[in-house]
Amino acid sequence: MRILFLGTRHNSLSQRLQVELEERGHEIVVAEVSGGEAMEAAAQAANPALIVAPMLKRAIPDSVWKRWTCLIVHPGIPGDRGPSAIDWAILDGAAEWGVTVLEARAELDGGPVWAHAAFPMRGVGKSTLYRRETTQAAFDAVLRAVERFERGGKPARLAADLRRGSERPSCRQADRRFDWKEPTARILACIRSGDSAPGTLARVAGESFHVFGAHEEGLLRGVPGALLAQRDGAVCIATGDGAVWLTHLRRKDGIKLPSVQVLGDRVQALPESVLAPQDAPERATWQEIRYRECGHFGLLHFDFLNGAMNTQHCERLLAAYRYARGRPTRAVVLCGGGDFWSNGIDLNAIEAADDPGEESWRNILAMNALVREIATTGNKLVFSVLQGNAGAGGVTLALAADRVYARAGVVLNPHYKRMGGLYGSEFWTYLIPRRVGEATARHLTDSLQPLGTGRAARIGLIDAAFEGDEVVERVLRIVGPELAGHRYRAALALKARQREQDELAKPLDRYAEEELAEMRRNFFGADRSYHEARRRFVWKRCEAPVCDVQETKALA
Ligand code: COA
Repeated sequence: MRILFLGTRHNSLSQRLQVELEERGHEIVVAEVSGGEAMEAAAQAANPALIVAPMLKRAIPDSVWKRWTCLIVHPGIPGDRGPSAIDWAILDGAAEWGVTVLEARAELDGGPVWAHAAFPMRGVGKSTLYRRETTQAAFDAVLRAVERFERGGKPARLAADLRRGSERPSCRQADRRFDWKEPTARILACIRSGDSAPGTLARVAGESFHVFGAHEEGLLRGVPGALLAQRDGAVCIATGDGAVWLTHLRRKDGIKLPSVQVLGDRVQALPESVLAPQDAPERATWQEIRYRECGHFGLLHFDFLNGAMNTQHCERLLAAYRYARGRPTRAVVLCGGGDFWSNGIDLNAIEAADDPGEESWRNILAMNALVREIATTGNKLVFSVLQGNAGAGGVTLALAADRVYARAGVVLNPHYKRMGGLYGSEFWTYLIPRRVGEATARHLTDSLQPLGTGRAARIGLIDAAFEGDEVVERVLRIVGPELAGHRYRAALALKARQREQDELAKPLDRYAEEELAEMRRNFFGADRSYHEARRRFVWKRCEAPVCDVQETKALA
């Protein structure tokens, strides 16, 4: 069936639905639209069997919904209406939330319900809930709605007691406002309801900022509102009954950056609360890079906001990886973060630098050093386990490992060019073809299409994907037997032979030299496309044209 996606942005949820519906044989046409006229034009051009709106901030015009069935994905429970569904669910402390797929009508979110799915709430930020629970529930509900539509069915008959939601207004800063004297739980809810957009306004060090990335601290205490400590770019601030870490701040009209960088001189004397990756505190706290051991495995978790890895992140992760590599274990498991695996170099940090070209260069060299260290690890097996989405150099980072596993439903964007024709590095010209061959590598990096885990496993980009949230545990169980005596030694010997052969065919450093020659042109050359695209991305400026209809092409 030809399905048109109408959306304000083809974001991670929309991409997930695209890859899952394509997986089931549907043809998806994606239109990023900003208004009614563009929606009408896109619908006329595609003439679809069905329209799905995975993330649409505008109403669909009558001319469209009267002619085509339009299914709207609303991130709320049946009966809920309004633009701030998850914000209110967090602020209200809802125990359960959900997604409703309803048919477009003149009344926003007021049409008949085709399907809905529920999930238990978790104490995390809005965007994390959106990327995990909401996306999974949207996938379940949309799939059922599309199947029902295909069978010629009608909207579901909903029992009245299922319509527990109600119409809510747009959530404003006044609704998220808090005082540092209040309890931590309430402050976390206020900050998390605005995370990642629009952010919650709060006073820090005497100035008003949008604050992000709030995590509970179980030990440090002080006068509410006082800054207590800093760690890896975050600051800890006292609350009425405890303290919270804030990883990022944004000035009005500014971009989201690590708190310490934004506060500058004001935190110079703030004490460092050092926590090494291998430290395992028993209290609640914030630890961006964590190293834990479990039998023969060393597990390295790295949870960088938005999966963006700035130069310091790469250097810290490299140090943690070297530590893991030096431990008497047999395997390192790279676990990434629960939200994102990695999205490559940090475009915000680069944008904020005095010389973005130079900072891009430093960042990519730091990323390459990390990838090189992983790809040349000879004394252990290395496994990547993608629990969250990955993009650009973040995908390549995963491929540096010997084996790559993922949570089913993760979306990969293994391409760089969307960022103003960025060539990309991280040894991708070696690591991607090594897994899928030259032709498929070219297709992946040129087509700019998102890739689902099903297709990624079929073409060999990853080894396997597993359903459910316990994917790290699952991988440990599956690969555990390979770490026993002779099997382990044989696997290491095979890996060494392969690396040797590959090095003879073309030295690893030559790949990097060739890629970096291209990157030098992107960063320092006369063509400023990368810098312009990065600026648009970081400052969230829409790219023209407004109505961009993309035909998607299946790969395998
Ligand atoms: N640097 C800085 N921020 C990044 C980032 C990066 N490399 N990649 C993603 N982000 C941020 C976005 O700005 C957004 O921030 P916000 O929530 O604070 O507004 C957040 O991560 C989520 O990104 P978004 O684009 O909304 O997610 P998505 O799932 O819809 O799209 C990607 C995923 C990977 C396609 C998209 O984020 C992207 O193109 N990222 C850039 C990748 C890149 O070019 N990296 C550099 C080369 S290695």
